[in-house]
Amino acid sequence: MMTTGTMITRRGFGAVLAAGLLATSLAACANSDTGDDAGGGGTIVLGFSQVGAESGWRTANTTSIKESAAAAGIELKFDDAQQKQENQIKAIRNFIQQKVDVIAFSPVVESGWDTVLKEARDADIPVILTDRSVDSADKSLYKSFIGSDFVKEGRLSGEWLVEQTKSATSPVHIVELQGTTGSAPANDRKKGFAEAIAANPNLKIIASQSGDFTRAGGKQVMEQFLKANPRIDVLFAHNDDMGLGALEAITAAGKVPGKDITIITIDAVRDGMQALADGKFNFIAECSPLLGDQLMEMVKKVHAGEEVPVRVETEETTFTQEQAKAALPNRKY
Ligand code: AHR
Repeated sequence: MMTTGTMITRRGFGAVLAAGLLATSLAACANSDTGDDAGGGGTIVLGFSQVGAESGWRTANTTSIKESAAAAGIELKFDDAQQKQENQIKAIRNFIQQKVDVIAFSPVVESGWDTVLKEARDADIPVILTDRSVDSADKSLYKSFIGSDFVKEGRLSGEWLVEQTKSATSPVHIVELQGTTGSAPANDRKKGFAEAIAANPNLKIIASQSGDFTRAGGKQVMEQFLKANPRIDVLFAHNDDMGLGALEAITAAGKVPGKDITIITIDAVRDGMQALADGKFNFIAECSPLLGDQLMEMVKKVHAGEEVPVRVETEETTFTQEQAKAALPNRKY
């Protein structure tokens, strides 16, 4: 598996430090006389608003952003929105007030960004979206969106299930653990999965509810699903963490995960891959969190006034149990 991010993300600590110091001094030389940024020494200042720390994926994404900023010599002002849109809006307004050079963020939900994005545009501060996008009709409100194709992740998950169940002659009962309500990955993964399973009329989603992308949420909602539905054949969880939480509920209910209930998740973080290799999960569609290097490259280009692509899609793959066993030893997150 190779993602566009992984190609240049993994470096030894010494190399990262050296590259960071070099890039910092080069950036300082290049920008010291422009006087057009908030970094005292001419360094590019990036304001980044992160969704929160809801999952293993998010933790890996935050590490990637911080390491890549340091390696690129970019001053990072990092804000954790704790899964709340109002916190992100507040953070973006703070970044505007501080006159940062570039703003980047991963929007917790898709809607409701136009006003604050217009404020950034009026202040002449370019905005880059990472990981999740917004549903603004005015695409000029941001320079680019770097991230995964969430619809595709849902579709690949559904297609795998269609293949596995092609000889089924009776209804297959599916429960779905959705991500954060209103978020792009929850909306898109649901859509892609539903479209794919429509190919087999025996595949029926009998319950679907948000577990907010957390382990605790996944466990709690799965407990409810198990109580309300005597027969569950398949769990589709919108991320590994909710699937991992659900494992506890399934085991506590006396069922064997991966055998009594087929489990499909998205992300492929280390804990998820371990569950897949151990036979507790059955299939994972990958979503790479290693977006830091691509983001920093784009921050530099945008700051220099260069044209950038409006969409940069992350390259991803899928894993079966056997593929997870082979990939685990080299898994980076
Ligand atoms: O936006 C990416 C999603 O957010 C990941 O799949 C999930 O784990 C995270 O919380």
